[in-house]
Amino acid sequence: MWTHQTPLGPGHHGTAHPSPAGPAGQALAWLTVSTSAAASGFGPIADAAPLSLCAREPYVPADRLVAEMVPPPRFDSVRFDTYIPDPGQPSQTEAVHVLASFAAGLGGAHAVGGGKRGFLGFGKAKAPKTPAGPRGVYLDGGYGVGKTHLLASLWHATPAEPALKAFGTFVELTNLVGALGFQKTVQTLSGHRLLCIDEFELDDPGDTVLVSTLLGKLVDAGVALAATSNTLPGKLGEGRFAAADFLREIQGLSARFRPLRIDGQDYRHRGLPEAPAPFSDEQVTKAAHATAGAALDTFPHLLDHLARVHPSRYGALTDGIKAVCLTDVQPIQDQSTALRLVVLADRLYDREVPVLASGRPFDQLFSEEMLNGGYRKKYFRAISRLTALARDAKSLVEPA
Ligand SMILES: Nc1ncnc2c1ncn2[C@@H]1O[C@H](COP(=O)(O)OP(=O)(O)OP(=O)(O)O)[C@@H](O)[C@H]1O
Ligand SMILES: [Mg+2]
Repeated sequence: MWTHQTPLGPGHHGTAHPSPAGPAGQALAWLTVSTSAAASGFGPIADAAPLSLCAREPYVPADRLVAEMVPPPRFDSVRFDTYIPDPGQPSQTEAVHVLASFAAGLGGAHAVGGGKRGFLGFGKAKAPKTPAGPRGVYLDGGYGVGKTHLLASLWHATPAEPALKAFGTFVELTNLVGALGFQKTVQTLSGHRLLCIDEFELDDPGDTVLVSTLLGKLVDAGVALAATSNTLPGKLGEGRFAAADFLREIQGLSARFRPLRIDGQDYRHRGLPEAPAPFSDEQVTKAAHATAGAALDTFPHLLDHLARVHPSRYGALTDGIKAVCLTDVQPIQDQSTALRLVVLADRLYDREVPVLASGRPFDQLFSEEMLNGGYRKKYFRAISRLTALARDAKSLVEPA
């Protein structure tokens, strides 16, 4: 029994449709060849060397970028009715109601021309000269409060076929523009009912202008929008809410968005067991060898490798990987390296890839200075996500 991977060249695009099986089924840039049941679940395997993230240099064709504009695997099955509002946080129930109505209003004919529909895009069609009301909603709240869950639920609840709804992070959207060009992106997305943008990056002025311009064109074409954002650097102590920054940064579009504030705690760790303490190098290595589809890398080596792969390819880097096993996790020295790890953590989290690690615990990855700096929200989010993935990985280690 064996598993090997072959990098495909630019001419080999394969099928670009996301597989219900998740990233394991999307062997596009990497052809995964397996003669065993190794591709599903954590089966024990004999004599198979683990994979290595550091040995991969993924290539991602443009059509894959378009086809992947759907909620990530973790949010495949989330719906408004699987969101359990905290009874102590009325804004959570309110958000579900507003978003469910928003989704319901996006059925029927395509709202070409924008502004022909009522508040938030639902309600009766109005005369074309009616000033445009909000055609978008902006979800504002701290990390882990359920923003992506609600954004994906909106995507699922919108009564249109998946090809007419797009869901992606801000970074994925800018990658799409980079790959297709601005006009082609406008053309591709103009016929959509809904575009959901998760994690709008407010700290990149160039891309913010680019995406705002794109959104203006799409709103004019009748596309409804929904977004969440990160927090601007330099906003110490204001990390939890970013609506004012978002509305300012998107400038001319602010009247098109209704901000919806979601209060509450990080749901990921609400009532859940503590993440395990780091394991030994030996336990991690042994688990990597015993787990089909696991990748085994040393943490410093992986950080070096991430500097050589464009962050837009970190998702492809993890294609088919069933678990990430890392030895020698240690504090990160500089901000660029730390931000790259944040992106990798996001992709692993989206894809529900457990992370088994030795060395220092994930809450010691970032320095005090980083945790008090402008990107603090990203770092806390990465700790929260990696801790959740470490909890998922616990079962890979045999009891001592
Ligand atoms: N009220 C809730 N009911 C059920 N599940 C929830 C709820 N809130 C969050 N979750 C779940 O908790 C996890 C974290 O939520 P989610 O990723 O949507 O938060 P977020 O606000 O987008 O966080 P981040 O700032 O990290 O992007 C997800 O698995 C989500 O499905
Ligand atoms: Mg999120």
